Formats: sequence, structure tokens, C-alpha cells
Amino acid sequence: MSIQFGIFFQGVNYSTVWNAPESGSQTEFESFRRVIQTAERGLFTAFFLGEGLRLREHLGHLHDLDVAGRPDGLTQLAALAAITEHIGLVATQNTTYNDPVDLAHRLQSLDVISGGRAAWNVVTTDNAWTGANFRRGGYLDHADRYRQAGDAIDIARKVWDARALAGPTAEIAPDRRADRWGAAPAPFHHELRHYDVDAAGSLPGSPQQHPILFQAGDSPDGRDFAAKYAEVVFSAHGTFDDAKEFAADIRARTVAAGRPADDLKIFPGQEFIVADTLGEVDDKVRWVREHQITPQTAVAFVEALWGTDLSDHDPDGPLPTFDPVQHETGETRGAGFRAQKALDTANQWRALSESKRLSIRELVIEIGTRRGFAGTADSIADELVPFSREHVVDGFNITPWLVPSGLDDIVDKLVPALQERGVYWTEYPADTLRENLGLRPPLTRRGDVPATGGADVTARVETPARV
Ligand SMILES: Cc1cc2nc3c(=O)[nH]c(=O)nc-3n(C[C@H](O)[C@H](O)[C@H](O)COP(=O)(O)O)c2cc1C
Repeated sequence: MSIQFGIFFQGVNYSTVWNAPESGSQTEFESFRRVIQTAERGLFTAFFLGEGLRLREHLGHLHDLDVAGRPDGLTQLAALAAITEHIGLVATQNTTYNDPVDLAHRLQSLDVISGGRAAWNVVTTDNAWTGANFRRGGYLDHADRYRQAGDAIDIARKVWDARALAGPTAEIAPDRRADRWGAAPAPFHHELRHYDVDAAGSLPGSPQQHPILFQAGDSPDGRDFAAKYAEVVFSAHGTFDDAKEFAADIRARTVAAGRPADDLKIFPGQEFIVADTLGEVDDKVRWVREHQITPQTAVAFVEALWGTDLSDHDPDGPLPTFDPVQHETGETRGAGFRAQKALDTANQWRALSESKRLSIRELVIEIGTRRGFAGTADSIADELVPFSREHVVDGFNITPWLVPSGLDDIVDKLVPALQERGVYWTEYPADTLRENLGLRPPLTRRGDVPATGGADVTARVETPARV
């Protein structure tokens, strides 16, 4: 089985070093162009943009390593579609603040103009400061966010299916006039908690029928949501044992949702640090971590676990002597940091910092050092072979620690090493993202729906066994 690669172009988070001499801009098109064209040269399956609609806040302050703004994802991907041919274009878009009919139309537009390469990474966005940007104000609680996300996907699928189910489309009308089309798409009605819509999609589908649905969110609700709706899960479980456990869990949930276990592809986010020789690995890792973990980032990282302001703590001094405060801190990726887990983790960190005599910053660097793959191209390729052999992942979403040159070593050295081991393809198998991922047709288009007919869209897309 081929391991696939996606690239996760980070806009926020300390994973990407933006302050080195060789760092590019996070807003100039040149950075995006260089990264996506390198990824396509390396036969990557997908190019992935995160979404942050507001600069990240932590206890009322901006993070020092967060980039100062970034362009809208769908706009960016439309431009990138024009300079690429095969790579998938994944837009992270949240379901909490977007209007689903409008969002579905924009995603389908990207899918059509890219010839069937678009995907939607469905996120619910879990922070109040982003909510403050929107007129509805605040943000929904956790369970409500996932309920709303399910509604949003149901609606999006109706938009995407409408034209195809309405009968012959503009393709058969030589002059493309609407009055020569076949039956018009039937409007559908769908009620959400915050509003209800009467809508009809208007675009014919792309060659892959629907944009691919990715999902990122790791709580039990998040996993069930992925199992029910998603086609690719962007997980946070990238080490072998963790990935194996996650694969067993998510596949069981997928089967429980009435789908084949392999219907949901697994792509953990992961970082790769490729050195020329084994002797250089430690130095390179050290350089990366020291640039990623500034003193302020180190304190913010510990604050996220402790749940309270630690600005009076010296980053070069010891961890707090008191226990974590048990509430959410507003950190973007909150799931790993909640409640009872916090005390266990704090105790592990204390033991580690005491045994190795580490300061706060050294501890955070040490924890980060155990993340990701670091080695030569050959040593990393050897580590990746079991992931393929035991099929614990379908691919990795690589977060480059440097933009725009951070993929060069991966494409020029790691990809050939994987190809030599027979676990990476040597050409794109197809033109659409759905085919490259080896996915079945969309859940609402698997044979129980006639190709033409234009009747009751709502009834068909809500067939329970399907979604
Ligand atoms: C790997 C990963 C990537 C994420 N990327 C984003 C993102 O780009 N934008 C965003 O608003 N939320 C992002 N999220 C947050 C999720 O949408 C979700 O709100 C959060 O994880 C809380 O849900 P959970 O408790 O199910 O994990 C991401 C989450 C994960 C696990």
C-alpha cells in the first residue's frame, strides 16, 4: 500500500518558524506557489490550508509566533488551482460561523474550476475570540457545534446533489440557456437551530461529484462525527502505537456508522526533519525546536495546561509548584488539555523536568523533540514502512517547519527513498482527488439515487443508513 502525503500549510501555531532568515512571507502568493509546486513535484495527494479567522489569543494576549494575518483559504486555493494539475486543494472552513448554502456553493465552485480536486476540511472552531467576529456572537457549546456541523454537511450535500439529480444539465443545451435545461433542481427545505433555508443548488458537479470531506477534531463527539460524515480524518495521532490505536478506534466507529471500515482515510498531521547524515540529526532538531519554542511560547504552552496566567514565571525557571486549574483556557486545540488529563500530564512533566533538571522552556523543547520524524531520508523511510505494511495510516499531513523551502528535502530525498522501498507511488494514479485517495462515490451517490429524474432530493439524501 502506498503511503500518501499531504501538506498542511500552517497559518498559526508555533510549528512553522517564521523568523529565520530563510523564512518567506505567510501572505505573499510566492510562498504558496513555491510550496504547492514542490508538493506536486513530490506527487503529494493534497495541499491543505488551515483556517484562522482571527489572530489567536491566549489569556487575552496574541501569541508571539502567530503570523500577522493570512488570506482567505478558498480565494487562495482558487489561485493555486490555476497553476497545478493533480494535487488536491483542501480548504479548512468552519461550520459554526459560515452559512452552509453559501459555503457549499463556494466549495463546489472550487471543485468545478479545479476539475474535481477540492476538499472541505470541516472544523467547528472552538474559541470565543473567533466567535466575537460574528454577529451571532459568542460561540456554541461543544455538542451543539457538532450538531450544527452535521446539519451543515446535510445541507451542503443537498446543494451538491441538486443539479445532478435534476436531470439533463446545461451540457446538452448547445446555447447553455437556462430555459433549455432539463428539470430545474428541486428546492429543499432544511431547518437548523439558528435559521432555516429553502434552497436549490445550481452547479453541475465536478468529475469527482462532491468535494471530499475531511474532518479535524479529536473528542469522542469529533470522532463519531468523522465516522458518520467524513471521507478523510486529519488526526493528531502520528506515532506508530498511537496511530494504530486511533486506526482501530476510528475504523470501529466507521463500521458502527454503517460504513465499510476503509471508507474513512486516516491522515495524521506530522513533522519531518530530514538531515543529510545521522550525526547532523540532533543539531538540526535542536535548531528547529529552539526557533519554534520562544520563551513566550514556552510559557503559553504550559499555561494552556495549567489553565491560568503564568506570566510571573520565568521561562528559564522551574514549572509551577501548584496544580493545574481545571478549566478550559481558550487554546485552539483544546481536546488534549482538558480537566483530569491535565493533572496527570502536569505530573509527567514535573517528573521529566526534575529528572533532567529542565527549565520551562527546556521542558517544552524536550516534549517537542519527541514529536515527528527526525533522521536521514533512509532512516525515516525505514520507520515509515511499517505504517504502510500494517496500514495504520493512509498518509501523513506534513507540516513544514520552514516555508517556502521546508518541503525540498522531503520531495528530493525522502520521496525517492520511499519509492525505492515500494511504499510511495511514482506517478499520480488519476486526475481527481477522490480517485487519488481511493475513495468510493459520495455517501449520497452510491446507487440508491437515479442518475436523472429531478424528484424529491430531500428524501433521498436523508436515507439514514447512508449518513
Ligand atoms: C488536527 C486538527 C486541526 C485543526 N485545525 C483547525 C483549523 O485550521 N481551524 C479551526 O478553526 N479549528 C481547527 N481545529 C479545531 C477543531 O475544529 C475543533 O474545534 C477542536 O478540535 C475541538 O473539537 P474536539 O474537542 O472534537 O477536538 C483543528 C483540530 C485538530 C485536531
